[in-house]
Formats: sequence, C-alpha cells, structure tokens
Amino acid sequence: MSTAVLAARHLVKHYGAVTALDGADFEVQQGEVLAVVGDNGAGKSTLIKALTGALTPDSGEIFLDGQRVRFHSPLDARRRGIETVYQTLAVAPALDISANMFLGREQRRPGFLGSVLRLLDKPAMRTQAAATLQQLGITTAKSVRQQVETLSGGQRQAVAVARAAAWGSKVVVLDEPTAALGVREAGQVLELIRRIRDHGVAVILISHNMPQVFEVADRIHIHRLGQRVALVRPTEVTMTDVVAIMTGAKEGNKGRADADLPE
Ligand SMILES: Nc1ncnc2c1ncn2[C@@H]1O[C@H](COP(=O)(O)OP(=O)(O)OP(=O)(O)O)[C@@H](O)[C@H]1O
Ligand SMILES: [Mg+2]
Repeated sequence: MSTAVLAARHLVKHYGAVTALDGADFEVQQGEVLAVVGDNGAGKSTLIKALTGALTPDSGEIFLDGQRVRFHSPLDARRRGIETVYQTLAVAPALDISANMFLGREQRRPGFLGSVLRLLDKPAMRTQAAATLQQLGITTAKSVRQQVETLSGGQRQAVAVARAAAWGSKVVVLDEPTAALGVREAGQVLELIRRIRDHGVAVILISHNMPQVFEVADRIHIHRLGQRVALVRPTEVTMTDVVAIMTGAKEGNKGRADADLPE
C-alpha cells in the first residue's frame, strides 16, 4: 500500500471544556476521494482545520508524504499543496471572480489547472479565469468581471471550489461544498471532485449528504465524538451501516483495518 499523502495520529483539540478532537487518526491517499462524515459537532471541521494549518492541535502528529509537519497557518499548508474551502466561505466579496481565482497566487504552487493560471496581467487573468470556470463546468455566472458580492451563495461556493481545484497540487479539502448548491451545481461540483481525483490529487470531502458521499467517495472516514470510529469503503457497507456507526448504534472498525500511518 502506498504512503498516505496526508495523515494524522492521535490529534487532540480542546475548546475550554469541549473536547473537539479526542485522539483522532486520519489518512488520505493520493488520487482518492475520502469522505468525512459525522453528526453535527462530531469534530469534522476541527479535524480539517488542524490538518490545514487553520488551528494548532493541543497534541498529536501530522504527516505530509510520510514526513512529520507542523503547519503554522493555512498559507503554510497552501504552500505545500493543500487547498481548503472552509465551511464558512473565504472569498473576497468586493473583488471580481477572476481576482478571487488568483487571490494569493504568488504563494501557491499550481495544481492541475495551474499551468493556465500563471499569466499575471488583468486581461489575461480574466481570460484564464473564464477558461478555468468553463473547464470546470461552472457557467452560471455571467462574466468573470462580476463582483463576487453580487453572486448567489451557490455561485460564490462554486468560485471557491474552482479556486481550490485550480491550485491544490496535493490535497483539496472541501467542507460541505454542495450544502448551498442547487441540484445542477451540486452535480457539477461532484464531477469536478472526480476530475481532481483523476489528476492524482487527494480530495477530502466533508458532507452530510449520504447519497452524494456514496456516489463519489472511494473511502469514508466516520467521525464521532472527536474520533475516527471507522474507515470503510462504500462498496462494502450500506448507508444504514454508516449512519448506525455515526450515531453510535453500531461499532466501527476504528480505521485499523485500513490504517496506513507512518511508523
Ligand atoms: N471556535 C470554537 N470555540 C469553541 N468551541 C468550538 C469552536 N469550534 C468548534 N467548537 C466545538 O467543537 C465541537 C466540534 O465542532 P466542529 O465544528 O468541529 O463540528 P463538525 O463535525 O464540523 O459539525 P457540523 O457538522 O455541524 O459542521 C463542537 O462541540 C463545537 O461546538
Ligand atoms: Mg463542520
């Protein structure tokens, strides 16, 4: 089995009296879609923040390509090829779509669409942003010169996902990317997730939408009470099984069966 591109062992994070992460393990392989599921408050977003430099865990270890790493900021993680769309969106509303696509570009290594995103002058940026959105199948906005604050919630989400897809060279993390989207846009995002995966990038998808998870995930990380309680393949379990493990009605495998953490 190949080494996990991103992995973690025994992450702990307390918020005052709340234990958001209680010894959580994690691993995702290159070129796979890993869904992370769990009830509200299970610690999914906290896990993602710890893995992407948005917060520092109280203890535990994180590995990138098998090497122990400490990310001091999201920028730190981005420089190493990890792009994240957080649950609360981080687009700049006052800028237009093309400017948002290029936000922070000087600190990033391009992902699979990045080679088309290197030109720096504004007209070229607009052309390339439009081409990128087109390639990603995101065509609902009228023009890339449209200010992001004038877009619908779903369109903003699409811009954020497109940006992550364009720049994530190793790992793309999407926290509830389809929650605000209509059926058509959600379908486009799922298609985009598959395309990112097919370029050898790892995709981490946090979602409450079980049919979508079963449609697109190669493996499912089930999170409960701050821990990974199971790591399963959608081909080997039913949605009912996953929900039962999520809620504690059924015992999970703790991920041991598939675990591939560095020694
Ligand atoms: N900044 C914070 N300050 C205090 N408590 C927090 C903070 N962020 C998260 N928590 C708490 O940590 C726990 C885990 O929260 P987290 O946001 O990681 O859950 P989640 O699995 O992402 O839930 P959801 O499915 O609702 O997004 C919750 O009890 C939450 O209230
Ligand atoms: Mg969350």
